[in-house]
Amino acid sequence: MARRLQTMLLLTAVVVLSAPPSVLGQKYRRPRREGQQYWKNMASQDLKEAMDVAMNQNWGVAKNVIMFVGDGMGITATTAARIYKGQQRFGRSGEEGYLRWEKFPNSAFIKTYLLDRQVADSAAAATAFFSGVKANYYTIGVDNRVQKNMCFASLDHKNQVSSVIDWAQKEGKHTGLVTTTRVTHATPAALYAHSANRDWECDTSLGLVGHGCKDIARQLAEDEPGRSINVIMGGGRHPMGSTYLPNTDPRSCGRADGRNLTLEWLLHKTARGYTAKYIHDLGGLLDLDIQNTDYVMGLFGDSHMDFEADRKNHAGGQPSLANMTSTAIRLLSKNRKGYFLMVEGGRIDHALHNSEPRRAMDDVLAFEDAVTTALNQVDTRDTLIIVTADHSHVMTINGYPVRGNNILGIADYSETDKLPYTTLMFTNGHGYDYRYDAAQGKVVRADVSTVNTTAYGYTPLAAVPMPEGGETHGGEDVAAFAIGPMSHLLHRTHEQNYLAHVVGMAACMGPHASTCTRPKPDLSHQILRR
Ligand SMILES: *[C@@H]1O[C@H](CO)[C@@H](O)[C@H](O)[C@H]1NC(C)=O
Ligand SMILES: *[C@@H]1O[C@H](CO)[C@@H](O)[C@H](O)[C@H]1NC(C)=O
Ligand SMILES: *[C@@H]1O[C@H](CO)[C@@H](O)[C@H](O)[C@H]1NC(C)=O
Ligand SMILES: [Zn+2]
Repeated sequence: MARRLQTMLLLTAVVVLSAPPSVLGQKYRRPRREGQQYWKNMASQDLKEAMDVAMNQNWGVAKNVIMFVGDGMGITATTAARIYKGQQRFGRSGEEGYLRWEKFPNSAFIKTYLLDRQVADSAAAATAFFSGVKANYYTIGVDNRVQKNMCFASLDHKNQVSSVIDWAQKEGKHTGLVTTTRVTHATPAALYAHSANRDWECDTSLGLVGHGCKDIARQLAEDEPGRSINVIMGGGRHPMGSTYLPNTDPRSCGRADGRNLTLEWLLHKTARGYTAKYIHDLGGLLDLDIQNTDYVMGLFGDSHMDFEADRKNHAGGQPSLANMTSTAIRLLSKNRKGYFLMVEGGRIDHALHNSEPRRAMDDVLAFEDAVTTALNQVDTRDTLIIVTADHSHVMTINGYPVRGNNILGIADYSETDKLPYTTLMFTNGHGYDYRYDAAQGKVVRADVSTVNTTAYGYTPLAAVPMPEGGETHGGEDVAAFAIGPMSHLLHRTHEQNYLAHVVGMAACMGPHASTCTRPKPDLSHQILRR
């Protein structure tokens, strides 16, 4: 067997030199080249659907809203994940499929720039789409008057902005947040915190510049709207002070004040006659008595939760994003006035920063599972679901792999240096691998034909070197997809802060609580006959 494999590899190597590039990438069941009838039928189906959507716009009021945020899930990542899904799950060519939200009736492009940056970070981006106001780089829940590290300015209530969580709570709705990052990380923090620096997650990170400001974990446990959030799930036992283990992760945030904010959070609820529960593993989540629980805090990692590819699925392990989403919806649905829920696939971003496309795509698919789970549980006639991303990454899809080529494989050869290159690459990242070759008297790049480019840890070549984990965000627009009441408000290219206003208008809350009008569409001016 081993010998046969060796012979095959050898043969492949020989063939590769003379054969078309397609030989290099593993190929999946390739469809026959579909003919005219196939494309006409498909377009007819889509036209019918598009007309149905246009004639049946839902102008109702959204009782519930779920915002799904794929952190760092740019267009490239979704296209790649769509192909990856078809190849991995169905052994198909991959290009022909859809991710669940790609069939939502409405979508739009979203401009992600910040007040002071062309390319966004998660903190200011989330401030835009959760509070409806664009902000400065690195800041959370504050307006243009607060720049990074301006602790004093961030304390002024005039400079703070309210979020969709505040708006929903004001209408008597339940609220929840579910993420795979620390619950104090940038995206979830923008729902409840006001901070001049997203890194101020716990007391030890405040330092001198943050002196006098309250860390994000304490804002979650002590302040409104954080402490009134019914469902809080993700990682973050370090910043919440609920683990006995010392913080050895330089990227996590451990407390030095000795406070157990999880315990304080529990006591605050029970003192008011509510039932509250703290859970920390999959078993705890599955055992949760949802009917008799008003508040739940699930902290499933000391720092972030694991990537989906590394997640342990046993009782002592971690729940999937879908498991957390499902539990959250069941608990929040108990409120007759409805709820607001945010679900973040938070580590798509981290996998891309690590230049690991495969881990990122597994997390996109876990995120998709969460969306599918939600769709199975809610009625989209009264529930608005938005799926979006905060910003993109600098991953790209190179030309011209053949149809059905492994998305993690080799795309083609460069005619210039005669070396192969992968389909997925980064314009910057720690996969940078160029060196000076004295024999050739020039700089040469790594030969990727000698490595397994489909492995989880493979880091594709990058043009600009970055430290490990330092691949950057990308600045092109992201997409937003919507289904449910008023989803047609997403219809062209919009600014990122518009998303919060769509939520407010759909659910009649926040700045749109009193101006929540529903004009009747007037078709009389339209020519209905040919
Ligand atoms: C903090 O409180 C929670 C909830 O009571 C408990 O499970 C946890 O063990 C406590 N952690 C520490 C470090 O005291
Ligand atoms: C947890 O989620 C996974 C998908 O991520 C699903 O296969 C499994 O059935 C879920 N388990 C429960 C108990 O909901
Ligand atoms: C490459 O890595 C993938 C993923 O870890 C593995 O399934 C596959 O067997 C590897 N291929 C080779 C030729 O080692
Ligand atoms: Zn990021």
